[in-house]
Amino acid sequence: MSEKTCRVTFEPEGKTVYVPAGTTVYEATGEAGIIINSPCGGAGVCGNCKVAVMKGTYEQKGSERFITDSDLEQGTVLACRTRILSDCVIEIPLTSRLFEQKILTDGIEVQLKVSPNVQKVFITVDKPTLEDQRSDLDRVWDALGLGNPGPRVPVDVVRRLPEKLRKADYSTTIVLNMDEIIGIERGDQSDKLYGVAVDIGTTTVVGYLMDLKTGKQLAVSSQTNPQTSFGDDVISRIQYATTTKDGLDDLNERIVSCLNDIIANLAIQAGIEKKYIYEVTTTGNTTMNHLFLKIDPQNLSLHPYVGVIRSNMDTRSSLIGVNINRYGKVYTMPNIGGFVGGDTVAVILASGMHKSEELKFALDIGTNGELVMGNRERLISCSTAAGPAFEGARITCGMRASDGAIEKVLIADGGVQVNTIGNAKAIGLCGTGLIDAIAELRKAGVISKNGKMYKPDELPDSVPDYVRKRVVDHEKWGASFIITPADESKTGEAILLTQKDVRETQLAKGAMYAGYELLKKELGIADDDIHEVLLAGAFGNYIRRHQAKIIGLLPDIPTEKIKFIGNAAGAGAKMVLLSKEMRDEACHISQNTEYIELAVNTDFQRVFADSMFFPEALTNG
Ligand code: FES
Repeated sequence: MSEKTCRVTFEPEGKTVYVPAGTTVYEATGEAGIIINSPCGGAGVCGNCKVAVMKGTYEQKGSERFITDSDLEQGTVLACRTRILSDCVIEIPLTSRLFEQKILTDGIEVQLKVSPNVQKVFITVDKPTLEDQRSDLDRVWDALGLGNPGPRVPVDVVRRLPEKLRKADYSTTIVLNMDEIIGIERGDQSDKLYGVAVDIGTTTVVGYLMDLKTGKQLAVSSQTNPQTSFGDDVISRIQYATTTKDGLDDLNERIVSCLNDIIANLAIQAGIEKKYIYEVTTTGNTTMNHLFLKIDPQNLSLHPYVGVIRSNMDTRSSLIGVNINRYGKVYTMPNIGGFVGGDTVAVILASGMHKSEELKFALDIGTNGELVMGNRERLISCSTAAGPAFEGARITCGMRASDGAIEKVLIADGGVQVNTIGNAKAIGLCGTGLIDAIAELRKAGVISKNGKMYKPDELPDSVPDYVRKRVVDHEKWGASFIITPADESKTGEAILLTQKDVRETQLAKGAMYAGYELLKKELGIADDDIHEVLLAGAFGNYIRRHQAKIIGLLPDIPTEKIKFIGNAAGAGAKMVLLSKEMRDEACHISQNTEYIELAVNTDFQRVFADSMFFPEALTNG
C-alpha cells in the first residue's frame, strides 16, 4: 500500500482529515468523528453506508450489491467497500448518518436509604509534640475511632498525608471506601461527595450525577455509544475487538472517552469539581462490560458462550482511565450469563421482581432483547437478537429514533397520517413507526398472517382504495407500501415499507416472542399467570402496546397489565451507587437468576418458526 497521504473533505460540514492512501472511506469518517449508519460494522452486508464521492480517485469493490450501475457511475459507493486513492471530496447524505437519537433518561424512582460505599468523615487530629510522637497515620486512625491499625491506606495516599494535615492545621476530611482510606482532603470538605451512575447501552450511554450525601440526582447527560460505528450489535463489536489489530483497545478507548465526556458534562451542569466525584457505578450487557474493562470478549461469541467475568468488579478509576478523583472507584455491576448482563440485574433490582410474590415478565428491547420472567421463588432470563430491525437497521428506509424519523403511522379516515420526531420532514422509519406501519397494514388487509405483503394485483377486495393506491410493485423491492410520497419527504425519495422489512420484523419479533414462550415453558406457566409485563429501555418506553400486540411482539394479555418502567437499567445503577445493601442484592440476583442459552435450546428453532406468524386476532383488547 502506498505511503501517500490523502486529504479527505466530508461534505456538507466541510470536515477535513488526512489519511494514508488505501484507507477506506468508512475508516476516514471515523477519523473525522462522523458516525455513519453502519449496522454491519463495515462488513459490506447492510448497504447503509452509502456516500457520494464528488472529487478524487478511489477504488471500490462490493458496492454493486446495493447500488445501481447508474448511481455507481455518478460516484455513489459504500463507504466500507471503498478505498481512497487521492485527495477526495465526499458527501455523506442524511440517510447514511447516525443522528443523536431520542435517549431515555428517566427511570423508575425507588425509595431507599442512602448508604453509599464511599463516606466522608471530617476529623481534627492532635498536633504532634515531643510528648506525643505518634505518627501521622496513627493520629488519623485514632481520630477516626475505628481501631489502630485502622482502615488500610494505599501508599500513594499515605505520601500525601503530612502535607494535607499540616496545611490545614490538622483538620482534614478522610474519604473511606469500605475498609480503605482512598482520599485525604484539606479542611472540612465533608459535604462535597458525589458519584456517577452510568448505563452503558449498546447504542446509548446515559450518566446520572448523584449527591452521595443526600441521594439527590443533580444532573443527567447522555450520548450515542461511539462504538456504534463498529456495528450495531454486540456480535459485530466482538468481531471488531477480536479480528482487528488494536480492536479491543480502540473500542475500550471510545467507551471510556464517552464516559469521560459525560462526566465532564455532568460536572459542568451541576457546577461541581470532578475531584469530588469518588465513585462511578456502571451497568451494561456482558459484552459492554468486557469492552469497558478492556477484557477480551472473544469467547462470548464462541460455543459454549462463556465470558471472562460474571461477578462485579471494583477497580480504581485511574486504572481504567475514568476521569474522576484519581483515587476514586469504578464499580461494574455483576452479569447473569453470556448475553444477559448487569443491565438485566439492574432492571430486576429496580423493578423489584426478585421480591415480588406475583409472576412478572420484564423485557428490555434494545439492540438485543433481554427477557426475564418469574418472581421471588425463581427468575429465568434469556437474550434474543431482537434489536436491529427495531432500531432501524436492515430496514429499507429505516433509521434510528432521531429528528425526522416517522415514529407513528395511522391508516384511517381515508388517509395515511404520520408523526415524525421533532415534527421535521420525514427522513425514514424508526422502530415504533415500523411496528405501527405493519400493524396498520395488517388491519387493512395488505399483509397476511404469514407476513406476505400483497402486490397491487393480489390485494383482497376489502382493501380500501386510498390504501390500495399506495401499494406498489417496486422494481427493486417488490411489494411495497408508500408511507410518505417522494414529494413530501426530506430526502426527495419515497419512504417505503417493503416486503423485506416485514420479513426482518418477523425475524426480530419472532425471536422475542420465542424467548417469551420458552421462559413460560420453563416455568410451567400460561399467559394468564403473568401479573405484569414490564417494558424497560428506550424503545420499550415509546412503543404503542396495542400495535405491538397486533404484530405479536408482545403477548396478547390485557393492555393495562403492560407497564412502562423507563430506563430501569439506569435506575438500578443509581441504586447500587447510593446503597451498599443494594450491591448485595445485585450480587444475589446475579447468582440466583437462571440463564437459558437460546442458541443451544433444542426447542428454540421450532418455537421461533411458529412465533414468526402474525396473530390472527387479539382476544384481550
Ligand atoms: S455495508 Fe457498509 S457498513 Fe454495512
